[in-house]
Amino acid sequence: MKELSLNILDITQNSISACATKIIISVEKDTKENLLTVRIEDNGKGMDKEFVKSVTDPFTTTRSTRKVGMGIPLLKMSAEQAGGEFKLNSELGVGTTVTATFKLNHIDRVPLGDVGQTISVLVSCNQQVDFLYVHKSDGEEFKFDTIEIKEILGDVPLNEPDVIMWMQEYIRDGIKSINGGA
Ligand SMILES: Nc1ncnc2c1ncn2[C@@H]1O[C@H](COP(=O)(O)OP(=O)(O)O)[C@@H](O)[C@H]1O
Ligand SMILES: [Mg+2]
Repeated sequence: MKELSLNILDITQNSISACATKIIISVEKDTKENLLTVRIEDNGKGMDKEFVKSVTDPFTTTRSTRKVGMGIPLLKMSAEQAGGEFKLNSELGVGTTVTATFKLNHIDRVPLGDVGQTISVLVSCNQQVDFLYVHKSDGEEFKFDTIEIKEILGDVPLNEPDVIMWMQEYIRDGIKSINGGA
């Protein structure tokens, strides 16, 4: 994928399919450590140990007979190509955490892309889910919490075009405001 924000969209769709009601998405830039970390954490139905193994290891011999998609393998590949690592922790009935790290200055590191758009789309299409987006950049932090947003908006639905535009800009500006973003 051309932008990590599209990987985030894809991985978060998995959390939604797994009936998560709370999803925490975080992006952290650490220039000193030369590291970019992307994490998606959910309280969905989780996966058992055997399944986790088969999803993270797409190039096994059972590949052709297995009916799973490419969302997880693509993020894993993207992280490893950029000198990073991929981790999938999951517990049945508890939830799943996907973590991908990237060497910030690696030539094959895919740019973060438009997280404002990704998050606002996810939020507007899944109003039943509470999303927390946390963006950290060299010690500074920006947070976007839909529980707060829903309180402020009251009865105004999150899929109103004006609200979507506002969320998008708010997140874009928030990211820019801390150390020039990622
Ligand atoms: N957060 C999650 N919670 C529960 N199951 C998940 C989660 N993410 C992925 N899975 C399981 O792993 C499978 C593979 O995911 P993925 O690689 O994104 O492909 P796809 O979503 O196209 O099936 C999913 O179909 C789902 O069964
Ligand atoms: Mg998927």
